[in-house]
Amino acid sequence: MATFKVGYFVGSLAKESINRKLAQALVQLAPPALVLTEISFAALPLYSYDFDADYPPVAKAFKEAIASVDAVLFVTPEYNRSIPGGLKNAIDWASRPYGKNSFARKPSAVIGPSPGKIGTAVGQQHLRSILGFCNSPQMNSPEAYIQFTPGLITENGEVTDDSTAEFLRTYMVDLQGFIERVYMALPRNQSQLTGRLWVLAKCPTMTRPQETRYLRIVESSRSTLPN
Ligand code: FNR
Repeated sequence: MATFKVGYFVGSLAKESINRKLAQALVQLAPPALVLTEISFAALPLYSYDFDADYPPVAKAFKEAIASVDAVLFVTPEYNRSIPGGLKNAIDWASRPYGKNSFARKPSAVIGPSPGKIGTAVGQQHLRSILGFCNSPQMNSPEAYIQFTPGLITENGEVTDDSTAEFLRTYMVDLQGFIERVYMALPRNQSQLTGRLWVLAKCPTMTRPQETRYLRIVESSRSTLPN
């Protein structure tokens, strides 16, 4: 069975964060094919492009943590109809230096809870806009706006409401399917040219001479693939 590493971001820095509780629940409900680890951003200083020439160790470690996973999952609150500043700061660090954007072609998904009924929808849309600019393929559906009523998730990350638990389990199964489809269509380290040919290679009507030509081109373009 293929497994995928998923790095998750908890958008809130609060000790009693409901997002952290939701993240714990998602870890427990995820299918065995998804291996989840938190990518913490709490220790990052405020980003400035003055750092681009030489990232501090904490930022290098942060970017390495993203590089080490196959996909990223954002579990975030909405702050003033957007995402918390700390999370935006972390995304800015990850997106730079120019040409070394950690999110490029890395699959992502977004989920969030709030005490109110309509909470996180607008914040999630902002995050989707940011991830779009960062060239991350996003799981569009299902969307997940979780109303966090008191006691919904215990301290141990156990979901006390059956229908919510089932929804979250399905969400994680869908995330696995989404990641599989992204990587099946185009491995992340393939160039655009190779990528087009990759798709062509899957075409059942491809003739033998076409296939031979395809393999030759793939081989010759391999040395020019981006890191
Ligand atoms: C909020 N909250 C909030 N909720 C919401 O649904 N829409 C919003 O725009 C905001 N804005 C907002 C701004 C700021 C600065 C704070 C501190 C809070 C309420 C928020 O959903 C609630 O505090 C959650 O508990 C935050 O998630 P964590 O930190 O508990 O994970």
